[in-house]
Amino acid sequence: MNLLSSARIENLLSQMTLDEKLAEMTQLSPLFFGAWSSIDLTGPLKEMDVSQREIKNLGSTLNYFGAKDTKALQDKHLADSRLKIPLLFMADVIHGYQTVFPIPLALGCSFNPENYRIASSTAAKESAASGIHLTFSPMVDLVRDPRWGRVMESTGEDSYLNSLMAAAAVKGFQGDNPAEKGRVASCVKHFAGYGASEGGRDYNWVELSENSLRQYYLPSYKSAVDAGCKMVMTSFNVIDGVPASANKKLFRDILRDEWGFKGATISDYAAIDETITNGLAENGSEAARLCIEAGVDIEMMSTHYIHHGKQLVESGKLSVEQIDSSVRNILQLKEDLGLFENPYKDASEEDEKKLFLCAEHRAAARKVARECAVLLKNDGTLPLKKNLKVGVAGPYAHSGNTNGGWSIAGDKDSLSLAETIKTHGVPVVTAMSQGLGSMQEGIMDCADEIDAAVNALRDCDVIIAAVGESPLDTGEAASKTSLRLSCNQEKMIFALAELKKPMIVICLSGRPLEIKPILHRANAFLQAWFLGSESPGAIADILFGDYNPCGRLSMSFPQTVGQIPVYYNGYHTGRPNNDPTNRFVSRYLDCPNEPLFPFGYGLSYSDVVYSDFKATVSGDEIQASITVTNNSDINTREAVQLYVRDLFASVVRPVKELKGIALTTLAPHEKRTVHFVIGKDMLRFHNNKLEFVFEPGEFEIMIGKNSAELTGARLHFE
Ligand code: BGC
Repeated sequence: MNLLSSARIENLLSQMTLDEKLAEMTQLSPLFFGAWSSIDLTGPLKEMDVSQREIKNLGSTLNYFGAKDTKALQDKHLADSRLKIPLLFMADVIHGYQTVFPIPLALGCSFNPENYRIASSTAAKESAASGIHLTFSPMVDLVRDPRWGRVMESTGEDSYLNSLMAAAAVKGFQGDNPAEKGRVASCVKHFAGYGASEGGRDYNWVELSENSLRQYYLPSYKSAVDAGCKMVMTSFNVIDGVPASANKKLFRDILRDEWGFKGATISDYAAIDETITNGLAENGSEAARLCIEAGVDIEMMSTHYIHHGKQLVESGKLSVEQIDSSVRNILQLKEDLGLFENPYKDASEEDEKKLFLCAEHRAAARKVARECAVLLKNDGTLPLKKNLKVGVAGPYAHSGNTNGGWSIAGDKDSLSLAETIKTHGVPVVTAMSQGLGSMQEGIMDCADEIDAAVNALRDCDVIIAAVGESPLDTGEAASKTSLRLSCNQEKMIFALAELKKPMIVICLSGRPLEIKPILHRANAFLQAWFLGSESPGAIADILFGDYNPCGRLSMSFPQTVGQIPVYYNGYHTGRPNNDPTNRFVSRYLDCPNEPLFPFGYGLSYSDVVYSDFKATVSGDEIQASITVTNNSDINTREAVQLYVRDLFASVVRPVKELKGIALTTLAPHEKRTVHFVIGKDMLRFHNNKLEFVFEPGEFEIMIGKNSAELTGARLHFE
């Protein structure tokens, strides 16, 4: 905070009435400002009963964009605002804006934080040109349950990987200074623990020990805070008995006091009102008091601050200082974004035209998308030769919309996969490509279409089944108990398999699905997630070997839903499953303990061999290395992974934890030695007094291709 800015803020604070301050602390949708005038304020929105005077002083709005419209709204707002405080435009710019990048779960699979940085900086340029000042991103909730639709917004199940990705995203959005042209401020969400919603049901409560919360769930939020993100959003869940939006321990003790966060905080959508439904606050007044006391500066989409704040101050239940401290954080954010000098920031219709989906942004999206797809199976069918006749069947054969959930803008009409394959000069026949709608469960029986598809593809040399889930089945409020493909899609795959042609399944989904029933019918299986605007091009690059796949799973694939949660870094039980003759061990009778595909797993077209593992203690560090050899005639990229186990400690430690990733590019037949250095800091954990400590003793150091295929050694380290 520079002196000049703090003088401006203090000056404004001294002139603001209490009502104006409470309105500054409130965020409402553009509807309240008369935007989208064709839609009337009805139902719950009308019940919010906000006066015109209050609207004139609101501090921010959400999900309103477009250079022309945001400028017009800003002009109107400034004309009405007594103290000329600019309106802050916030929006969910999650994985790209007009040029859409892969969903965050897929970005995680690139194991390359630089990709999240590129996606975010490109999104920042485009959205800033559209008048957006702050994005509600990154979402860094650690996820272990694919029944939860929001796993698509996270980078996965590992705290270390998530932390690297979180920092990269913040840097991408904000650069060194969010006030600069083409940058937006970043809001990390959802603080905290939302990814552990019980049973994978959205908005559900969370049961976590403080040890687990600190050890696994909090590091990614902290990483975003350390990277300088300007805002933190609450989560919908109750945690330790208290809704996150009223959780003083999270927002004051941990975020501000322990981590030193100086930015602004915001509730999630109507989450302050929901503390009443949760059964914490008895009424709106208590909800406002509890959430302001907890340190939540902005109330998003409910109105208890403006309606009850004044009375709470007048009755002495809240102090003016508490209100001022929140308003100061919000004004500081506006100051940091340069809005007092230029309230439009980068809004420019000309820049919108220049930047949206421009060649440079598309090239970046293609580069990133190719690194995010994960090849899960290949018997040599891939890469395809270009002289084959290809049959493409399934709902994603002709769908140009592969953006996935949370794409607020974006080109919904790019070339489809089938059309893109044709551009490679390959003859293509399509079948059953009528879209997902008609292939959903219970909608219709597709038996006739399936017969027709089998006939249509009979002459093809190879079959591609482009299947998956609807983008609407992923994201918020999209929890499911079955993770299988729709019955019609499975039947289509079974029927096509009868043709005995090589079959490649390409799966577009926002979560790990239960793919076991179809996997053995497929000669190759590419998990393509939702890769964004350049999805078909990126997939075709991989299919034809123009790009050697290198994605690695950032979330384990379950064998069956009944196995969930299944993740790589659990604990050892006292009865490990290593004796098939003993019934009384920790296992399922009908399913292995291991996932179908583990965290970190992914194939390429190259045979990369790991050898010469070494690990030694050298003074205050452990040095470990491994040699990787590319036994193929093409370039390849390996994500060499380092895992550690603390064998005996004052609290039980996971069977392994990712501690390092070395992205290693290998030329044909190149051999390279990859080195890791493990310091004591990397081995710290929360003991049973919640102190963050290193405990000397026995460690297992492991390096390999994924969390299950590792070579390791045991060392004493103190
Ligand atoms: C979501 C947030 C999002 C907000 C604003 C909420 O429903 O949980 O992630 O940022 O809406 O759109």
